[in-house]
Amino acid sequence: MSPSKPIIAANWKMNKTPQEGYDFASQLVSRALEIRGAEFILAPSATALSKVYAALDGANIGLAGQNMHFAEAGAYTGENSAAMLKACGCDSVIVGHSERRHVFGETGADINKKIKAALLAGLNVIHCIGELLADREGGNTTQVLREQLASDLAGFDEFPADRIIIAYEPVWAIGTGVVASVEQAGEAHGEVRNILGEQFPKLDASTVSILYGGSVKSSNAAELIKTEGIDGFLIGGAALDLDEYCKIAEIAQMEARG
Ligand code: PGA
Repeated sequence: MSPSKPIIAANWKMNKTPQEGYDFASQLVSRALEIRGAEFILAPSATALSKVYAALDGANIGLAGQNMHFAEAGAYTGENSAAMLKACGCDSVIVGHSERRHVFGETGADINKKIKAALLAGLNVIHCIGELLADREGGNTTQVLREQLASDLAGFDEFPADRIIIAYEPVWAIGTGVVASVEQAGEAHGEVRNILGEQFPKLDASTVSILYGGSVKSSNAAELIKTEGIDGFLIGGAALDLDEYCKIAEIAQMEARG
């Protein structure tokens, strides 16, 4: 089921020490009691996961890794396995973020292996897809989304809509302050649903949760969350500040309730 509550996920990227993460998360636990109409997910750096988990203290707030290796264990210096993320308290993991694809050179084949390994280990997946500016300007957005979904989800007979959340993040809108217009975001979310419906004929694509990411802040959250097909946000920069993050969640909760 596409969620009744908007999902407000924070991707802290390479920010916040364990103590900073702990302080943020403990304050969020009490603030979230007033924002029950939104579903929170925090994605701290791997080094902060355990401490953030301790701060969450059983509260109904998700904890996600930002990345993982697809192998169960082995000689992969600097990497973390799905089991390690789980042991730190994670219930999900972000896979295929554009920084992983474009800065660290991850391929669709890598992402495919990661998604499979995460699901097998019992982690849910926040699966990021999105086009580059050149793709959009060349009129290739739909094609790129189609290719990403085909390679990232190769070998899947069915799309597990209860285990995978899609995050549509146009790369040109990430960290740039340039947000996709509601028309662009709405159209892309619709395309993603169409593509998934074609790729997985048994899937009711309306049950898939699709987050928007790319320069989301409190000043643009209302119009975005009102847009048909947007089920929540994956937020980078604006989610580093607790007040701003909670404000976005409050806006999303209010608009979702109509
Ligand atoms: P941003 O990042 O909100 O800073 O644009 C979003 C993301 O990368 O998930």
